[in-house]
Amino acid sequence: MNSKFDFGMIGLGTMGRNLLLNMADHEFSVIGFDKDATKAASLEQESNNNKNVKGVVTLNEMVQQLKTPRRIMMLVPAGKAVDDVIENLLPLINEGDVIIDGGNSFFEDTLRRIKYLQEKKIHFVGMGVSGGEKGARYGPSIMPGGDIEAWKHLQPILEAIAAKVNNEPCVAYMGKDAAGHYVKMVHNGIEYAIMQLISEVYALLKNGIQLSNKELHEVFKTWNEKELQSFLIEITANIFKQKDELTEYDLIDMILDEAGSKGTGKWTSQEAMNLGIGIPTIDIAVSLRNISAYKTERVTASKLYNTSTTINTNNQQNFIHQCYDALFVATILCYAQGLAMLHKASEEYNLEIPLHDVVKIWRGGCIIRSSLLEKFYTAYQNNNNLSNILLDKNIATLIQSKISSLQKTIIAAAENNIAITGLMSALGYLNAYSTAKMPTNLIQAQRDYFGAHTYQRIDKEGIFHTKWND
Ligand code: 6PG
Repeated sequence: MNSKFDFGMIGLGTMGRNLLLNMADHEFSVIGFDKDATKAASLEQESNNNKNVKGVVTLNEMVQQLKTPRRIMMLVPAGKAVDDVIENLLPLINEGDVIIDGGNSFFEDTLRRIKYLQEKKIHFVGMGVSGGEKGARYGPSIMPGGDIEAWKHLQPILEAIAAKVNNEPCVAYMGKDAAGHYVKMVHNGIEYAIMQLISEVYALLKNGIQLSNKELHEVFKTWNEKELQSFLIEITANIFKQKDELTEYDLIDMILDEAGSKGTGKWTSQEAMNLGIGIPTIDIAVSLRNISAYKTERVTASKLYNTSTTINTNNQQNFIHQCYDALFVATILCYAQGLAMLHKASEEYNLEIPLHDVVKIWRGGCIIRSSLLEKFYTAYQNNNNLSNILLDKNIATLIQSKISSLQKTIIAAAENNIAITGLMSALGYLNAYSTAKMPTNLIQAQRDYFGAHTYQRIDKEGIFHTKWND
């Protein structure tokens, strides 16, 4: 079989097919493998039978028709499936070939696979791909990590298909080893946190001041035309307009309030604990999805405790604007927590993650794309080793200009039993992070009192223990 294809894809689900069609749009020849013949056929049909697009049902047929060094991407569920694909590929490929895992794999698994394949002189790239089906088809944000040689071999194709912002492709080298999947994991953690905040503002506007879905659509549509512009705000506005096909109601009102998750947010929280970095709003977002699963208990508890009541406001427009400012500030704090985690991880694991490139490629294509990212990009261009964007003076000024709205919104919600745990955690994070002297000296005293765990002093070096008077 003549090797004439530039890129191969294992797994022709919607994402896999759309990425290949995107490549074909950019004049690359692509070949996809799936055991499911209908998916292989769909690829060719969806390409309008473009001669540069081929779907096959055996792995060998795909591998043998690829130009070398081969570029083979897999989009299969995280876990054992990835290892199985690697084992099936190994007898068919040659030294110097590149295997890309474009799924949401856990970074420790990716690191293991990089080392395993390095011994066989095969490049293995952990690559985050964000933007869902539309992103894959018309321009995702792409987060490849690993060895530089593989990146250079992939760069032309990935830059061609990535989303563009100011004509710049939303793809860049994310750093060494498993940095690509690490950055994607944190992207998803930030995604969870921002989605949690938006849901809380929805509760404030719907339950708090009784806005209708039509009014909610108008509010979020207007917000998306301002500095809070983002993909998540945009789709939220659209969601409030969607009619239910099965009833005469709005679809949003027919959806059960139990949130699912595939696990990337949980991984972010678990890893942050291991790393020793505080990301409370991302943690809360994961926890609130878990709490949402206890529907029966929540209904029972709602009869025992005060539940949310309407917020008495004499100026609805003012309250809505206050919620906008609160969401704006809290959203910045979500990015701050995630980006600070990437900074810490880059140092801890020696990944050399280019944070300015991370925020640069998140400006388009990905789920957390937003106008705010331009401000973070500027902050990192001013100081590429910023440990936290909250230390950037422009961002600090921006936050200070709106922080009172976050405080007032939290008070209004708290007084009316409206759950806004994410917004509260965001303010708490800012307050703690900007407290020069925290009350943690008391925790040190308590630890030394009951466990002789020792403490440090403010006036001299050393480690101390006191025999405390009972
Ligand atoms: C993306 C998304 C995607 C993820 C969905 C579902 O960047 O395109 O993050 O990778 O699979 O968000 O994630 P949860 O089911 O965990 O919400």
